[in-house]
Amino acid sequence: MKNKKPNFPENFYWGTATSAYQVEGGINNDWSIQGGKYDAGQACDHYYRYEKDFDLAKKMNNNAHRFSIEWARIEPEEGKFDQKEIKHYKKVLQALRDRGLEPFVTIWHWTLPDWLAKRGGLTNKDFSRYFKRYSEKIAEEYKDLVKFWIVLNEPMVPAGHSYISGEFPPFKKMSIRKFFKAFFNLVKAHKSAYRAIHKLRTDSKVSISQMTSYFEPAHKWCLVEILFSKFACLFQNDYFYFLIKDYVDFIGFSYYHHYRVIWYPPFCKNLNKKRTDMGWEIYPKGIYYILKHLSKYKKPIYITENGLADAKDNRRKKFIVQHLKWVSRAINEGVDVRGYFHWSLIDNFEWAHGFKPRFGLIKIDYKNNLKRIPRPSSKIYAKICKNNYL
Ligand code: FCB
Repeated sequence: MKNKKPNFPENFYWGTATSAYQVEGGINNDWSIQGGKYDAGQACDHYYRYEKDFDLAKKMNNNAHRFSIEWARIEPEEGKFDQKEIKHYKKVLQALRDRGLEPFVTIWHWTLPDWLAKRGGLTNKDFSRYFKRYSEKIAEEYKDLVKFWIVLNEPMVPAGHSYISGEFPPFKKMSIRKFFKAFFNLVKAHKSAYRAIHKLRTDSKVSISQMTSYFEPAHKWCLVEILFSKFACLFQNDYFYFLIKDYVDFIGFSYYHHYRVIWYPPFCKNLNKKRTDMGWEIYPKGIYYILKHLSKYKKPIYITENGLADAKDNRRKKFIVQHLKWVSRAINEGVDVRGYFHWSLIDNFEWAHGFKPRFGLIKIDYKNNLKRIPRPSSKIYAKICKNNYL
C-alpha cells in the first residue's frame, strides 16, 4: 500500500535551536551590564550542563543542533581573545559531533561585548571591521568542526529593538537614522564574515537566519492593504537577503508571526483564534507561504527557528504537527527544504520578557536547581524526528 503520510527528504536535519545568552549563564555583555529590565544571570546553566542537554536532544532523535557563540566570551577586551573560552566552544562542538548532532553555528545572536557597546555598538562606524576580526577568529578556530554557519541571527530585530522600540540595549527609541546605520553595518559585517569563512574552507555553507512573517491583506480586494502587505513582506523578509544575495549558500529563516494587514491604524487585525502565551497568533499555513516565497532564491532552505511559548504544553504538539504538515506540503510541491530547528530545546531567557515565556520542549524548573523535565510534546517531536514523517 502506498504510504500516504507526508514524508521528509532523506538526510533531513531535525534539531532544536538555542542562543548563548539565553541559555548559558554567567555572561558579561551589553545586556547584563547596561541594566535593562531583565538580565539572564545564571540562565539555564547550559555553559556547564551542555553535555546533558545534548543527551536530551539526542534522546529526541535529533541529528542537528543550532546554538550560538558568545562574542563577549571570546573577545572580552578589544582584540584580546580568551583561549579558555575558545576551547570551551571546541568542547561544545565536539560534544555535538560525538552525539551525531550536526552543528549549525550562529556567530552572532544579538549580544555585544561591553567594550563595543560602550563605543556605540551596532552603530559604530567600525562595527564591520570589529565583526570581521571576531568572525575570522571563530572561522579559523572551528573550521574543522563546523560546516554550517549562520553568521547573523535575525539582523532586523536587534536593529529595530535597539533603535526604534527601545526594548534592547542601548534602549533608544525612534532613531530611524541609527536603525539604518545598524542595519547597513550588519550587511557589511555579514559579507566580511562570509568571505572569511569561505577563504578558509570553500565547502562551508554560510547564511543568516532571517526573521520572516506572513503578511496578507485582511480584504483581498483592498488595493491599499495589498500594497501594505507587499511592502511589509519586501522590507521584513526580503530586503536584507536582497543585499547579501551573493553571499549566502542557503536560506535560513525563522517563522513566528502572521499579520492580517488593514488599511487604517493600527494597520493589523488578526483573527487570533489561537494564540501562544506571548499573544502571538498561531497560524501554521504561514510557514507554507513563506517557504513558497523564499523558494525564488533557488537555494536550499533551512527553517532555523519555529516554536511557541506554551507553559502548559497544551498547544505545542498540535503546533509542531500542523506547521510540519505545511512544510511537508511545500516540499511535495518542490521546495528544497533541508532542515527544521524547533525553538527551543529548553526553556530560556526571552530577552525583554525575562524568564516567564516557556519555549522549551524541555521544561526548566527554575526553582529546583534548574532541573530539566521533558514536556509531553517532546515525545511527539522525537517520534517525528525518528520516523522522518508525520
Ligand atoms: C526569535 C529569537 C530567539 C527567541 C525567539 C522566541 O526571534 O531569535 O532568540 O527569542 O524569537
